[in-house]
Formats: sequence, structure tokens, C-alpha cells
Amino acid sequence: MQQHDHDLWTSDAPLRFVGLEVGTRMTVLRLPDSRLLLHSPIGPSPALLSAVKELGTVAFLVAPNRLHHLFIDQWQKEYPDAATFVAPGLETKRADLAITGVLSDDPEPGWEGALDQVLLRGMPYVNEVVFFHRASATLIVTDLAFNLGPNSPLLTRAAFRFGGGYGQLGPTLLERLLVRNRAAFRESLERILEWPFDRVIVAHGNVCETGGRAQLMRGYSWALD
Ligand SMILES: [Fe+2]
Repeated sequence: MQQHDHDLWTSDAPLRFVGLEVGTRMTVLRLPDSRLLLHSPIGPSPALLSAVKELGTVAFLVAPNRLHHLFIDQWQKEYPDAATFVAPGLETKRADLAITGVLSDDPEPGWEGALDQVLLRGMPYVNEVVFFHRASATLIVTDLAFNLGPNSPLLTRAAFRFGGGYGQLGPTLLERLLVRNRAAFRESLERILEWPFDRVIVAHGNVCETGGRAQLMRGYSWALD
């Protein structure tokens, strides 16, 4: 587990997507009441479970988009009292899961003191909810931006150099193709860019510790113009 700020950690795990090693990342937030929120949980190994336990009690499990939901049930078994919130669409896609609520533009009462959120509209296949952690000026995205770098395997580097999301925050070609309603997407993006964030945590690639806002704007200039 890597600590980025007073109440902010991440933990990485290997993950292959269309044959490419892109990795995946869980973000752990400690809320003002000391309870924990797990964003895009990775598989709970014994080592990870004990590291999380040292930080506090998991109260919230968040599946932030329609593609990041794979390990929620395993964490539910470990923390049966935790509330599970999912991106719109997962409540039917994952009808097998016990779901507390569906994420929207409004922060849930349990975390409204610490986080803001926006549902990215216009990309219905993904329906990603993007979070802003005020205390650490951190934007937490899932697939909105990738940030693969030299630490990735050769094939991954080649693919992302070509398709986007290499060397700086940006969408891949796939994300660009998934935008169905550009005006709605742009409006959501503009709301996100109003937040005073500097660090950006992505699910695939490297965390951007500083200057993330400018990088994200550059990566999405085609949608913002
Ligand atoms: Fe992803």
C-alpha cells in the first residue's frame, strides 16, 4: 500500500486487458470519522487485508464504473456491514451483488464531508463516477484517463503510445470511441475541471502526483474545444 496524503492510499495489482498488462489500482480513503472507503477494490490478499485493517474499518465499497466491479463481493464477505455503492447500470449487470445504492452527482451522506463527485454523462457503456478528495486536492478517476509509462512492459508501451494514455494523463482511443453524447460528456468534464485538484489517481498506469489538472485538460482538449 502506498500513502499519498494523510488520509489517502493506493494499492496496485496486475491486470491484463485485451492481452496487455495494464495493472489496476484501488484507492483507500480515510473519512473524517475514521471509517474507510475502498474505491475500485482489487482482490483482497491476506497481506492487503491486514494492511487495510491497520488503517481502520471499511464502511464503503465503491464500484466507480460499469467495468470496475470484480472484487466487490470478496470484500463484502470480509466486511458484511459495509455499504456498497455502484455506478449506474451495475445494479442490473451485477444483480447478484447486495447493493446499497447507485452513485449519482450527489455525494452520499457517509462521505459528503470529504468528497465531491460527478457522473460522467454521454458515455453510457462506462458510466464512470469521478471523485474529488478535497483534503488532498486529489482527483480519483478510473478509466477516464490512463497514464502508462516506461515501467510498463514493451507491448503495453507500444499500444498506449499509439492509442493514447502514455507518458501523460489521457484517454485511450477506446474511450474516445465510447463517447456517445459529446455535449453531455463535455459538460461533465467541465464540472470536474472546476475542482482545484493537482494529483490525479488513475486505475491504469502511474499516479500523477502533481500538475494533473493541466495534463487532463491537454488529454481532453479535443472534447473541450
Ligand atoms: Fe479500467
